Amino acid sequence: MSKPKLVVLTGAGISAESGLKTFRGAGGLWEGHRVTDVATPEAFRADPEMVLRFYNERRHQAFAAQPNAGHLGLVELEKTFDVTIITQNIDDLHERAGSSHIIHLHGELRKKRSAQNPNLIEDWVEDIHVGDLAPDGGQWRPHIVWFGEQVPMLDEAVPHVYQADVLVVVGTSLVVYPAASLVDYVRPGKKIYVVDPNRPSGMYVANEVEFIEEPASTGVPKLVERLSV
Ligand code: APR
Repeated sequence: MSKPKLVVLTGAGISAESGLKTFRGAGGLWEGHRVTDVATPEAFRADPEMVLRFYNERRHQAFAAQPNAGHLGLVELEKTFDVTIITQNIDDLHERAGSSHIIHLHGELRKKRSAQNPNLIEDWVEDIHVGDLAPDGGQWRPHIVWFGEQVPMLDEAVPHVYQADVLVVVGTSLVVYPAASLVDYVRPGKKIYVVDPNRPSGMYVANEVEFIEEPASTGVPKLVERLSV
């Protein structure tokens, strides 16, 4: 018999205990910056060196971080379920924890792309500076979805949520669209679990929702225990 399908939507909260800051935490700043000052095409046009420096730092910081019990717990679920992880995170902690199927909605710090062609993508292995050019002559930039840009991986993510037997939401405030709209695709009657010390403010669904109001490192293992019986 095939395993039931479980889809997990993760956000910055799952990586918080690995030392990576959330976006809308204390003070509403992301690593000392307003998100709009670093994560928009306008910011990149206005001050590319600053934006590149910021993301070079994020990349070093993310690679130095280690997966926590939240990431590892989601790998455990693969014993019982066919698991797909849809993450808004740009770090690679789900990969390094060992999850098999991961969709990065907002891009990845492991990849860079040409500012001229969103489909010209390569592995990002060294810091990027102004003047580092892709083969098409475009400035290299992080392969990251900035505010106001398209979210091409959304089309791949939606059918997974629609086919899910169970949806799990971990560590996202669900205020950023279109990612937040994914929960609307869960079919009626399918249960949703939320692991977050704070109930996500942007969650309006008719489905049954069970909240585990704890940090990911303790909440995900509890969820695993609950779902594995
Ligand atoms: N464990 C679980 N959840 C936590 C933890 C923790 N240890 N610490 C904080 N959280 C929760 C917060 O309560 C909040 O609900 O994580 C959530 C983080 O929300 P945001 O900072 O808004 O992050 P996220 O939802 O991932 O942001 C979405 O916004 O800036 C953009 O593109 C960026 O992907 C990002 C998107």
